[in-house]
Amino acid sequence: MNLDINQARLSAELAKLATFSEAPAPAVTRILYTKQDLEARAYFKGLCLEAGLELREDALGNTFVRWTGSDPDLPAVATGSHIDAIPHAGMYDGTVGVLGGLEAIRALKLAGFKPKRSIELILFTAEEPTRFGVGCLGSRVMSGVLDTNGLAKLKDSEGKTPDEARQEAGFSDNLADVRLTEGFYYAFVELHIEQMPQLEQKNIPIGMVTAIAAPATLHIALEGAGGHAGAVLMPERKDALVCGAEIAQTIESVALTTGSIDSVATVGIFDIHPRAVNSIPSKVFMTVDVRDTDLGRRDSMVEAIKDAVWTISAERKLKATVETLNADPPASCAREITEATELASREFGLRTLPMVSRAYHDALFMARICPTGMIFIPCKDGVSHRPDEYSKPEDIERGVKVLGSVLARLSQA
Ligand code: GLV
Ligand code: MN
Ligand code: MN
Repeated sequence: MNLDINQARLSAELAKLATFSEAPAPAVTRILYTKQDLEARAYFKGLCLEAGLELREDALGNTFVRWTGSDPDLPAVATGSHIDAIPHAGMYDGTVGVLGGLEAIRALKLAGFKPKRSIELILFTAEEPTRFGVGCLGSRVMSGVLDTNGLAKLKDSEGKTPDEARQEAGFSDNLADVRLTEGFYYAFVELHIEQMPQLEQKNIPIGMVTAIAAPATLHIALEGAGGHAGAVLMPERKDALVCGAEIAQTIESVALTTGSIDSVATVGIFDIHPRAVNSIPSKVFMTVDVRDTDLGRRDSMVEAIKDAVWTISAERKLKATVETLNADPPASCAREITEATELASREFGLRTLPMVSRAYHDALFMARICPTGMIFIPCKDGVSHRPDEYSKPEDIERGVKVLGSVLARLSQA
């Protein structure tokens, strides 16, 4: 099928979406349910209505855009991604899968294609963990991994729960209805930038994801003793920052010494209290993001990190708590979707590279409820979660073409 992708329109829409940001360009910061997030959603919904598609939203703001097929009772084929952006991120992470998904549908319509199964484009709420600490909030609840009780335990930095925050944002339906049953979708396929440099280095336009690595998140709180920076002598101190720093260094060693390059661990937040020049830090709060392609190795790292917290805090006589926010297993992609991706790529003369996604995506949770796959496209130097994140319009166009063809194939099955 000849798919005519309007590259200029898609580039302009990606650029427009990037303007809904708390940070000045080229950085993009778009946090769940903020004014910028709601404005970006409104912009996206407007584009979908212009394209003649039907919209529905669930109680968390997951947005479903439907192109009804000739057999609307069959489970639909879904695609989509996220538009939230971590602090000081770039403009392609997630957005390529959302606006690219819309462009794929528009191109299929233009080509005169008539789907048998309906095709749904999903804008997932909060793939990024910024506001409530866990990633993939929308798909986590959709897939039943997080229920309403679990949701009620999450808090943002102001102590608000997701329930309070979503009501303030205008989403008031029943939270229990967010969960989708297994079989609700026939298949899910997500288009995303690679966020690593392999495709670019090998000059291959399409990544065919076979599996998604297992992520875990820990919150560590330390409480020592503060006091006067001149008057408390060194042997008497219980400095929470120094204790936290030793723990952070140990976390790095834990990831470096598993024997596998697939092990990664990151302290992304390290807050100290009271944060004054002449005051000993009495409290530390730190987050740890731990991932591996191998679940057993990821779990061993989590255990080793917890042991390090207990040992180091005991030696330094500080109080410590560790909370595990999430410890998710990896996901495997469905063979029927990698095969469809291979066939679609061949149709356009594009080479493919099978690869593991080391970043997580909503696909990690969609894989729990339906056969799932991911299509990756190259990004410059593999850079992501930075303002200089970049994918070439022609690379995006190739990914959208392949996505369109995969959706078409799956929708006829
Ligand atoms: C997603 O943004 C991730 O952190 O992998
Ligand atoms: Mn991201
Ligand atoms: Mn993403």
